[in-house]
Amino acid sequence: MPVISFAPDTGVWLLSTPRTSYALRVDETGAPCHLAWGPRLTLDEARQFVTPAAPPASSFEGRAPAGEELPVDGGTRYGCPSLQVRFADGSRAFEWRPVGHRVDETSPGRSELALEFTDRVHPLRVTLHYRVHEDSDVVERWTVLRNDGDETVTLLRADSAGWTLPARDDYRLSHVTGQWAAETQLHRERLAFGETVLTSRRGVTSHHANPWVMLDAGGAGEDHGQVWSAALAWSGSWRVTVQRTPDGRAAFTGGAGHDGTALPLPPGGEFTTPAYAGLYTEGGFGAASRAWHAYTLAHVLPYPDEVRPVLYNSWEATGYDLGEDGQKALAARAAALGVELYVVDDGWFGARRSDHAGLGDWTVSPDAFANGLTPLVDEVHRLGMRFGLWVEPEMVNPDSDLYRAHPDWVLHVPGRTRSELRNQLVLNFARRDVADWAYGWLTRLVADHSIDFLKWDMNRAFSEAGWPDRADGADLLWTRYVDHLYEVIDRLRADHPGLRIESCSGGGGRVDLGILSRTDQAWPSDNTDAADRVAVQHGFSQIYPARTMATWVTDVPNQHTARSVPLRFRFHVAMAGVLGVGGDLTKWSESELAEGATLIDAYKSVRHLVQHGSQARLRGPGGDGSTCVQYTAADLSEALLLTWQRTPRYAAPLPPVRLTGLDPTARYRDAATGAVHHGAVLTGYGLLPELPSGDWASAAVHLVRIPTP
Ligand code: GLA
Repeated sequence: MPVISFAPDTGVWLLSTPRTSYALRVDETGAPCHLAWGPRLTLDEARQFVTPAAPPASSFEGRAPAGEELPVDGGTRYGCPSLQVRFADGSRAFEWRPVGHRVDETSPGRSELALEFTDRVHPLRVTLHYRVHEDSDVVERWTVLRNDGDETVTLLRADSAGWTLPARDDYRLSHVTGQWAAETQLHRERLAFGETVLTSRRGVTSHHANPWVMLDAGGAGEDHGQVWSAALAWSGSWRVTVQRTPDGRAAFTGGAGHDGTALPLPPGGEFTTPAYAGLYTEGGFGAASRAWHAYTLAHVLPYPDEVRPVLYNSWEATGYDLGEDGQKALAARAAALGVELYVVDDGWFGARRSDHAGLGDWTVSPDAFANGLTPLVDEVHRLGMRFGLWVEPEMVNPDSDLYRAHPDWVLHVPGRTRSELRNQLVLNFARRDVADWAYGWLTRLVADHSIDFLKWDMNRAFSEAGWPDRADGADLLWTRYVDHLYEVIDRLRADHPGLRIESCSGGGGRVDLGILSRTDQAWPSDNTDAADRVAVQHGFSQIYPARTMATWVTDVPNQHTARSVPLRFRFHVAMAGVLGVGGDLTKWSESELAEGATLIDAYKSVRHLVQHGSQARLRGPGGDGSTCVQYTAADLSEALLLTWQRTPRYAAPLPPVRLTGLDPTARYRDAATGAVHHGAVLTGYGLLPELPSGDWASAAVHLVRIPTP
């Protein structure tokens, strides 16, 4: 069956992925309408979804509130518009007039469909794009808007795509909320009637919500049920509106910008929305997550096959108290521990002895490094590690040479307060000169100091988001800022192909498919308390793969929560992602260093499973029992089980953990103990991992298939 097929008699378009189908059609009014999204269909079967146009049931109804590919504002539509435009004459609305289509199946492994329309009155062109890949069930969608007229059009709302679910008796919405140090808290709740808005108004993806949703009919579990999900590839403000309509249908729309932001489209101007990727899966939330992980590895990350190195970061150990000798001492201990990438955090530049000054002045501070950074970089390289450095290019402290020279470079509104958060202001990256300045010093910094890795931070939300030099600046900046951010990173990467980047925004404030398409990993939370991290990582894993999730083992009592948990537990939690260490190694005892080295070694022998295997959340956090995650090799030859238990209950024995997806006919050997287990028993009955007694018990069980003679 072709990947994109068309039935001219009914106008049905059918997009096929390996296991799913997506069908739509341009209806009699010229509007692109949704037909089906779910299990695989033939074109003939998809035709059955075409129903004859019927007049509204009463004069109070209009077009059905769900069921269009990109619901517009106009005519008898009363739902949440994905596209809302204001023309120069003050009029609003959009009426679809189809003008053509393009099918592109020339690129290996992927196919694209573009449906082109124009408004019936004004020369505004709207093209709906769809892309499918031969190795994924994800359907990528985006919209291109082009102003072919000679007056500016204002896009009051220009979402990437609208998505419609099949009719079900009930619906449930899964999403994450959070805040600084408590990101990606998973919620799964009955979808409310009306509109549920998930959004960031902060200029950045945000800690508070993340632009993905999963919907199910109420009965899906981790390993069963139909799930419809979508994730937006955008790192600025965004809005997703999920609707449950009075007639019981569910649909959602999403795109860049929050309520009240608008985008001017000058004559000849074109706006390409960010991609909004959708996925239908059977097999529950676990299967949905695995499909997102596989998609992110295959089609989002720039270097997906790379094994991420074990990292050390000195932030929690030293704070702003940086110096060559101290860093060299830490580097020596890190190297001995088995660390492969040594990262110097905030405080190495300008007058940055605290968070009150120096941000923006990106020259090495002689107070911290009297001989410059080179001796440290050389030493780190000599020790066999890569060298990484923290930067925060989008920000400035008012107490800095940069701000004294360019007070107009920040987001601001003349006459209004310039609100500081963490004593800093936001540089207006939407300005060409600001973006070019950032690119200039970054590319020199990387070249001059042989930097292998940047931790790119962004530590506050927008406020007074004005750009007084341009009349349309306050509208334009929300998208142009992000476009320039992406552009600076892309230019930097092109200049330095060996450079790798971590996305950080005060922890997990900027994790999304947009930033992940140009970075290598993300920092999920400043909260490094292993107990809290179990839940943060659970939420992170819903969409984003472990290969992108940086995790550190830090000291106890934890700096944020004052909780103390054993080193082994901290390591086992951090082993669930890209392992790093952030403790003060000069204070670790010999036995802690020895235990750390052993656990880093153990991680290195299983990280191919964590970073590139398929992940199954066997037991989620919460409740009395243990939390368990399994990572399995594609050929089922190996698996890793990580399990964490906060506290025993009533001296009761733990139930065995049923593993999943192993070869039931094979036997597996526990690499540490040598114990042999039958695959059928592991999956059918379970494994009882050996846990130490008492609180904060954890285990990492590496199972290796025994070759059959
Ligand atoms: C943010 C980051 C931290 C650290 C500090 C430095 O909070 O999330 O990891 O880099 O900034 O100021």
